[in-house]
Amino acid sequence: MANRGNFSGRIGFILAAAGSAVGLGNIWRFPYLAGTNGGAGFLLIYLVCIFTLCFPVMVGEIAIGRKVGSDAYGSYQKLGGGKWGYLGLFGILAGLFILSFYNVVAGWAFGYFLEISFGDLLDQQDFGAFFGNYVNDIGPLFLFSLAFMLITAYIVSQGIAKGIEAANKIMMPALYLILIGLIVYSLTLPNAMAGVKFYLIPDVGEITSRTIFYALCQAFFSLSLGMGALITYGSYVTKDQNIVSSAAVISIADTSVAFLAGLMVFPLVFSLGAEPGQGPKLIFVILTQAFQNMGPIVGRIVGGSFFLLICFAALTSTISLLEVPAAYLVDQKKFPRKAVVWSLAVGIFVLGLPSLFSQGIVPALNKLPVHNSPDFLSFVSDMCDISLTVGGCLMCFFIRYRWKMNNLNEELTLGNPSFMGSFIQKYINFTISWVCPIVLSILSVLVIIDKFFGL
Ligand code: TRP
Repeated sequence: MANRGNFSGRIGFILAAAGSAVGLGNIWRFPYLAGTNGGAGFLLIYLVCIFTLCFPVMVGEIAIGRKVGSDAYGSYQKLGGGKWGYLGLFGILAGLFILSFYNVVAGWAFGYFLEISFGDLLDQQDFGAFFGNYVNDIGPLFLFSLAFMLITAYIVSQGIAKGIEAANKIMMPALYLILIGLIVYSLTLPNAMAGVKFYLIPDVGEITSRTIFYALCQAFFSLSLGMGALITYGSYVTKDQNIVSSAAVISIADTSVAFLAGLMVFPLVFSLGAEPGQGPKLIFVILTQAFQNMGPIVGRIVGGSFFLLICFAALTSTISLLEVPAAYLVDQKKFPRKAVVWSLAVGIFVLGLPSLFSQGIVPALNKLPVHNSPDFLSFVSDMCDISLTVGGCLMCFFIRYRWKMNNLNEELTLGNPSFMGSFIQKYINFTISWVCPIVLSILSVLVIIDKFFGL
């Protein structure tokens, strides 16, 4: 497999996988979902999901990828034979759709970066109304999301080590720093503590079935699980690396960014007297208001850098989303990497156009004729959520019944000689054999019923 390229080492892999995980999911989606689903209760369920369901699935995905050294389809196909390859294809398909809408939201963030840094966005009176108009200003957004897709394609076309790793090394630490700076700022504002309470002190009575569904789906989305992204990245990992500890570092890195994003947003929300449950526009409204309050010059610099860093976080995620289908076409169909990457980028961009037009400018795309009549973008994102938990669940069935637990354990022992017999081995075996398949299949069915018919 020498010619497929490898990550340059443990740090390279961890940075790339963490870069995939940390993205709009952490900074844009996590706070608004927490805001609409009870704050601290959501956070609590989210953490439980990460620990009991997502971490084992992540270990499983990386192990499958490294064992075979192939793309998502090839890995399931070679290990499982029969029709198992379809499980990989299912994930690849989900990835195309995720990237299609993700890229649109990345275009919004890129637009905000430009408008804050060089335009007059911070002079607005009503940031909610501004956002509503902004996402329907299709001309510039078309260009921004196209630019975003082309930059992604350029990096992916450069191959694994050069493109993907290099992009992560500077941006991740910078993102942490600015988050922490903004948390310190927001905690000093009047009434900030009401936000901290909303976010950190759970009211168990407020936890509904929907809190659980959204937290579960968000946890899978945030860790990039369930569609073969980490199988693909795992295929570039060398046999001397410790998969379990790498997965732990990746999960902690991702979860801490989501946690910090919430800790930044909710004190701001409460000190501005705003509504935590305002949905996808939450950070676009709240943060711009906060940047405005910082004064014209500071606001421009801090706000501009913040949205720029969000764009970089999104970029390392779009890279991983594009890498999955690209690896499939390169490995299985033997197409040349560059041609594959550029054609995919154009195709997925076109697939994303209905999402781009779904925020009001085309009414038919804004209220779909399904049970809760969401816009097209939310609808695609809901469907992708479902496919991630289903994909993760099927992966556990695959390991348990087809690949077998002892083969997983053998793979996990490489690079981690003391794995056999350890507590963590028992934990992973137990969760993959019992907890994940049972809990994920029940919850996936309930999520499907809820999204289509409402529970
Ligand atoms: N995890 C990323 C985020 O939180 C999004 C993402 C990248 C993703 N690759 C993925 C989600 C693969 C699901 C599957 O922003």
